[in-house]
Amino acid sequence: MVKSAAAVLLLVVAVAAVAVEGHKKELSVGYYKDSCPGVENVVKYHVAKALKANRKDGAALVRLIFHDCFVRGCDASVLLDPTPENPHTEKTAPINIGLAAFELIDEIKAAVEKRCPGTVSCADIIIYAARDASSILSNGHVHFDVSAGRLDGVVSRAADAQRDLPDSTFTISELIRNFRRKNFTIEELVILSGAHAVGVGHCSSLRARLTAPPEQILPPYRNLLASKCAAGPDPIVPNNVRDEDPAAVAASFPSFLPKLRKLEFLDNTYYHNNLARIVTFNSDWQLLTEKEARGHVREYAENGTLWDEDFSDSLVKLSKLPLPPRAKGEIRTSCRRVNKY
Ligand code: HEM
Repeated sequence: MVKSAAAVLLLVVAVAAVAVEGHKKELSVGYYKDSCPGVENVVKYHVAKALKANRKDGAALVRLIFHDCFVRGCDASVLLDPTPENPHTEKTAPINIGLAAFELIDEIKAAVEKRCPGTVSCADIIIYAARDASSILSNGHVHFDVSAGRLDGVVSRAADAQRDLPDSTFTISELIRNFRRKNFTIEELVILSGAHAVGVGHCSSLRARLTAPPEQILPPYRNLLASKCAAGPDPIVPNNVRDEDPAAVAASFPSFLPKLRKLEFLDNTYYHNNLARIVTFNSDWQLLTEKEARGHVREYAENGTLWDEDFSDSLVKLSKLPLPPRAKGEIRTSCRRVNKY
């Protein structure tokens, strides 16, 4: 009896040690090549299929990498559902309004579990999926290798998300400080903000823009946003005016009609829009109010290829944000719940 209790204790200590040790391991490209060959193709297949049916999932995945990695590192803590014991997980935080693609991550995880049970972390799946989404949305211009070997965290707190993620009402100094806290530069703030070339935002995230003066927002674009935001309690609008609905543009901003397009596309148009004062969030416009940031906005407006490369590099850097020291990690069975031992 004593012997078997001691054995159980040893096992528990060993499992805990592996979990903690895991964080110290270096991430590597091709991490699953022996333990789960082909996993990257499985993820890519599901992302491509989902985006073919609904391109909006792509933007959701690109946002997910940011909202996961900026809070407790890239540990899939953003995926944990609230439970009676932990009712306020990150995904319930107001700053995470509109976060999506959770079902797509479930679908990918289920396919991966079927192939190699208990092997691939949800944290790695988020990065693979965001990489594939940005590649598809940019027609292959954004591309990079993903280093893997992350563990899934067991802690998820809405308060951490509120504290660590930037708000759309932030001033440039607040944005710079927020990014600096995670060791990101002003240039990287500008590069990563370019992700707002795709996707949507709720009107509640851009309220201040509806009454901002003409130096901050082009009046016909402000009218367009105001008319769309009057249409319901909290409607959504495209982040990129080029994805707007033609009828709304014809009514408020007819000079922009020739520039509309049919497909969401991840490119450097964000910077052109920003210089033309036709971006959705206050935080976007704020980039023009500081010399260095403004210089980078101009630089990326002029050089789309450079942005593709620098955006890829910045996503790689984002994907390497580690868990807090001594945090416990595991390979979750379901991305929505921590494992029960
Ligand atoms: C610089 C500070 C940032 C602020 C203040 C900010 C703020 C926001 C807000 C308020 C929304 C709309 C949420 C809603 O109302 O539904 C949004 C959407 C989005 N953000 Fe950001 N964001 C920032 C940086 C980033 C970064 C670094 C990325 C990725 C690299 C990113 C990617 C996206 C994407 C793709 C969407 C659209 C999501 C969708 O359509 O599902 N953002 N952001």
